[in-house]
Amino acid sequence: MPALRLGSIAPDFEAETTQGPIKFHDWIGDKWAVLFSHPADFTPVCTTELGEVARKKPEFEKRGVQVIGLSANALDSHDKWIKDIDDFGSKVSGPTHVDFPIIADPERKVATLYDMLDAVDPTNVDSKGIPFTVRTVFVIDPKKVIRLTLSYPAQTGRDFDEILRVIDSLQAGDKYRITTPVNWHKGDDVIVHPGVSNEEAKTLFPGFKTVLPYLRLTEDPSVKA
Ligand code: BEZ
Repeated sequence: MPALRLGSIAPDFEAETTQGPIKFHDWIGDKWAVLFSHPADFTPVCTTELGEVARKKPEFEKRGVQVIGLSANALDSHDKWIKDIDDFGSKVSGPTHVDFPIIADPERKVATLYDMLDAVDPTNVDSKGIPFTVRTVFVIDPKKVIRLTLSYPAQTGRDFDEILRVIDSLQAGDKYRITTPVNWHKGDDVIVHPGVSNEEAKTLFPGFKTVLPYLRLTEDPSVKA
């Protein structure tokens, strides 16, 4: 199976989820999607992460993004675990309601399709010694194209603000001929795409500043829209 790269079409699949069966491409529809895997149910780092995604769901929705988790356990286990996540999250971080689907993948079918299985942490295995997943993230656009991949080790919880930040950059870059600099956040100055001539830039981005001949800055056009 060829590696999944940025620009690959996200493989389609059918799966059981906590919100019913899905066909992945149909579930994505005309929205963006974040598919993120977890090692296993009832594990501590995962419990903190899923609660955080639940609390941030409105931020994803504002950007037209649907979120879907995956872990290599069965549906009844997921359903019990969600109760723990909501309970723990609301005690520690504020109201928490996991109302996005979590894929049940006890046989690692989707995990294998997306190359999510752990090859580094000998503790991240089930009772038969079969690897669980690492913490992968796939950001997929409405055309089903993979736009971002991340792989974090089981021991390290992700920063979902960073994933929102990248989505802001991708969506702004799709709409305007710009790129985004280091540590950029929506509203900060952006870079005029190197493929835009200075003549074009005068029309597209009046008032752009040339910092270096190849580094031209302009106000973030995505906040004016
Ligand atoms: C966790 O979620 O805490 C975890 C899961 C598998 C291996 C290590 C940590």
